[in-house]
Parts: sequence; structure tokens; C-alpha cells
Amino acid sequence: MARKKPDAKPDRRYRIAVIPGDGTGPEVVREGLKVLAAAAEVTGLQYETDEFDFSGARYLARGGDPQKPTIAVVTDQEIATLKTYDAIYLGAVGDPNVAPGILEKGLLLRLRFELDQYINLRPVKLYPNVPCPLAGKGPEDVDFVVVRENTEGIYTGMGGVQYQGTPREVSTQINCTTRFGAERAVRYAFDLCRRRASSKKMVTLVHKTNVLTFAGGTWMRTFEEVGGEYPDVKKDYNHVDACCMWFVKNPEYYDVIVTDNIFGDIITDLAAIIQGGLGVAAGGNLNPGGLSMFEPMGGSAPKYTGKNVINPVAAVAAMGMLLRETGTHKGDPRMVEAGDRVERAIIATTPRMKSQAAGKMGFSTSEVGDLVAAAVRKG
Ligand code: IPM
Ligand code: MN
Repeated sequence: MARKKPDAKPDRRYRIAVIPGDGTGPEVVREGLKVLAAAAEVTGLQYETDEFDFSGARYLARGGDPQKPTIAVVTDQEIATLKTYDAIYLGAVGDPNVAPGILEKGLLLRLRFELDQYINLRPVKLYPNVPCPLAGKGPEDVDFVVVRENTEGIYTGMGGVQYQGTPREVSTQINCTTRFGAERAVRYAFDLCRRRASSKKMVTLVHKTNVLTFAGGTWMRTFEEVGGEYPDVKKDYNHVDACCMWFVKNPEYYDVIVTDNIFGDIITDLAAIIQGGLGVAAGGNLNPGGLSMFEPMGGSAPKYTGKNVINPVAAVAAMGMLLRETGTHKGDPRMVEAGDRVERAIIATTPRMKSQAAGKMGFSTSEVGDLVAAAVRKG
């Protein structure tokens, strides 16, 4: 039965933009929406969804060149429309018939930049009974969060190529690091660390200050100055290469990590594997004051498309994050509760699954969604 909290706003109706995307994206999104419906039912959360058909298939159908970006993957008008929503839920982008880079830049990176989603939040949590490739490590050892700066570094597209295709070819890819960008990421990490239940209360800056002395210096100075405002939180630093080692050897060491864009990209793939793989890993592209987008970490998995075998847990976890983060930033405890319920339901479901790998779960995609939705209803 719905148990209404006194401070919930009963008539607030959230609008969620859904982008199922390519490949298995629509299949996993369907399960995420199924679980959302269950969470809304038990919490009384009001919402509506609208679907947007951005995808590689649409790009090609509209006459986009498969080799180079000749038309917009998402139009300016569509971005303006997206901006009217409370949150975005994304399935997957990636089409084997479209050259790498076109959809990534035209959709994912474009939305991150235009919506100023300056945090890429990646909870790294090993759920019960999910096989971990690290010997002797269990759920109590793998439970940390990576805060990846999401709008700067080498992702800005600054630089260029000259004399292309000749022996003199030269290219630059500029690492654009600003005090402003580093500061908002670092601040988010410290605030998050305070909010987390973990007893470690530690933020680790990950960079490569021994070689990237300019950009690393900006990050380090920012980290030390902003960190000074958080005397209750331990300040720690790892070089990114060493961090990769520690992820494998001592993941229990970490609480909250803050890092730049490309380092965050790389270490969060390693982190995804130690939490049980792409079947379970979810992330959020956050603009804490604005519009955020949540997605499973896995790609469009073309070979599994339409087979009802892909693991929807990551997409369901992304929905949990959507609810928790949106609820937190909009100050709606009922939405946070809906997100917490989704997380608890995942924890109740993974032990029933044979594996987290596609086709080996012991259940189909939609059956896993049914199990999580039933667990949400049970509480
Ligand atoms: C990610 C992805 C993207 C990135 C790609 C698809 C552009 O790997 O979200 O981590 O590099 O950020
Ligand atoms: Mn990545």
C-alpha cells in the first residue's frame, strides 16, 4: 500500500524524456520503465514519459552519411524540447552501420555539453551474488563512487589535424582544464562524500600530476583549496595508473573518487568489470541544478538485439539513479524513496539470477524486469 510521506508534494508530476536508442537499448529501457511504474505505484509518485527516437537507424533513414556526420543526429529543436523535461532516460547509442564517433559526438557528447551535464556519476557497487572477477572480494569490498568531470579535458574537441594523410600529418588534442570545471566536480565529490553512508569519509583525487603538471596542478590546487572547506572529509590522492592497480588489489580502499574526463572514462570501465560487468553498471550525466541523463553503461550490443536475453539490471539501476538523483536535487523525498526501493529490489533480485551475462541469467530480459518490479512492490 502507498504510504505517503507528509512532506511529499502529491501533485508534482515529473516528465521523463525516454531515448531507447539503438540495438538492445529499447529492450532494457522497457524493463526500466516497468520498474518505474511499480515504484510509482507503491510510492504515489506521479510521472509521464515521452519517447524520442534518436538513434543510428534514424540518422541513416534520414539520409545521414554512414562515414561522416552530414546531418544532425539530434536537432537544435529537439534539444530545446528535451530541456523542458525533468530527466532523460537513455538506453544505448551505437550502430554497426555508422562510423564510430558520429553518434557518440552527435548524441551523447552533444547532450552532455549542451545540457552542461558536468558530472558523470558512476556508483561502483557489487550486488549480492554477482560474480566478481577479483579473488576473495565480495559486496562489502566493492562499494565506491567515481565522480568524473564530464565537460572538459580532452573531450572538448579543441585542437585539430593538419597535412592529413601525408607523412607530415600532425594532430593536437588539447586537454582543456579549467579551475571552474575542476572546482564544481571537486565540490560535488566532497558534498556527495558527506551524504554517503560510508564510514571512510574520504575523497581521492585521481590524476597524473607527475607528468601532466599543468592540468594536474590546477586539479591539485583546486582539490586542496576546496577540500579545506571539508575538514570532516579525508583528502587523498592517487596517480591514475596506480589507481588501476588498487582497483584490482584493494577496491575496499575507496569511498569517493574525483577525476578528470578521460581518466574517469577509463577507470570506470575497469570499475564496471569489478562490480560484475556491463550487465549491472549504470551511470548518470548530471547537471545537478538542471537536466540530467541516466543510462546503463553497456553499449547497444547488436548481436543480442531482439532476442530478449540482454541483462536489464544496469538499465534498471540507471532508473533507480534517475529517481534518487532527481529526487535529491528537486528536494522530493518520495522520489528518493522510489529510487531506494528500486535499488533494494535489485539487491533482492540478483541472488536469484544464475549469471549477469547476456543469455546466461536463467531468465529472459523481460522476466528479470518482472522480478525486479515484483520486488519493488514487496518493498
Ligand atoms: C562513456 C562512453 C562515452 C565516453 C563514449 C561513448 C563517447 O565511453 O560514457 O563512458 O567516452 O564518455
Ligand atoms: Mn566510457
